[in-house]
Amino acid sequence: MTDNLSKLRERALAQIREGTTPEKIEEARVAFLGKKGELTAMLKSMKDLSAEERPRFGQAVNELRDEIERAIEEAQGAMKRTMRDAQLAAETLDVTLPAGRMQIGHPHPNTLARKEIERIFIGMGYEVVSSTEIEKDYYNFEALNIPADHPAKDEQDTFYLGGEFLLRTQTSGAQVHEMEKGRIPIKMISPGRVFRSDEVDATHSPTFHQVEGLLIDKGITFADLKGTLAVFAREFFGEDTKVKFRPHHFPFTEPSAEMDVSCYKCKGAGCRFCKGSGWIEILGCGMVHPHVLEMSGVDPDTYTGFAFGLGLERLALLKYEIEDMRLLYENDIRFLNQF
Ligand code: DAH
Repeated sequence: MTDNLSKLRERALAQIREGTTPEKIEEARVAFLGKKGELTAMLKSMKDLSAEERPRFGQAVNELRDEIERAIEEAQGAMKRTMRDAQLAAETLDVTLPAGRMQIGHPHPNTLARKEIERIFIGMGYEVVSSTEIEKDYYNFEALNIPADHPAKDEQDTFYLGGEFLLRTQTSGAQVHEMEKGRIPIKMISPGRVFRSDEVDATHSPTFHQVEGLLIDKGITFADLKGTLAVFAREFFGEDTKVKFRPHHFPFTEPSAEMDVSCYKCKGAGCRFCKGSGWIEILGCGMVHPHVLEMSGVDPDTYTGFAFGLGLERLALLKYEIEDMRLLYENDIRFLNQF
């Protein structure tokens, strides 16, 4: 009988020792100490023993039960400690590590250039107004002296939205909206997105941005236009920038011109940037056509004014020395982070 007991002891302690999870230990407990467990069965078999054998055997069984219980408790305790240590190691927080960097975004070169243009014109007393990207045919073309059969309409083919609405091809319509308000003098710039049905290449995109400018008052002349735009060019590109006006044609200005700036790279000597000419075209401008003033309710006998329109991307590319306009629209963070 005691032989059986010592064999049971060995098996029980081995099973507990080898138990790798709390479930395995519990299985061992049930197998030996449970109601139908082996040790319980031993106790039950005591009735078959003689009266003098019984107490000794009983004591031995009780001692073994205590021993198994202790072994189980120890195994469970050890297991809890290892599990807690593992958890603590996994959840370690090193408060001395430097904090993770927050990605908070970065102004786009277009935005930087627009803000700079706005800053310069606000400094000369201009107001920044916004106008809508969806525009009526009247404001985009008609009121700017571009009637339905005018060839200029072909050059600025756009996305027609049905009815009289289209996506504006130029910000010039903002001039008309401003004049229709009937408040003179007007001194405004209007930056915004424009659309044309153009193919994408290094210098074209079906959507880009312009900044429109308009000044209307009594006695405004072409000299005011030249002075204002020369000040702007020097502020934007640098103090030694020269400007040049070339005669041009726009339906809504008379006379009209295009303005070039001396190449900031080669200072006019001729280089890859200015295609060897020493000059870079940056905007269109002119004196607002009397008929345009009249259509918008401004008396051309009392008031005159000048207008200009510049391509924002063009200026951003030049200022930040970017060679391909497509880079401005790809939103590659490695590109944008350089500005
Ligand atoms: N809207 C013209 C364009 O897209 C640019 C322009 C030229 C605007 C002369 C003007 C201007 O206001 O006076 O080509």
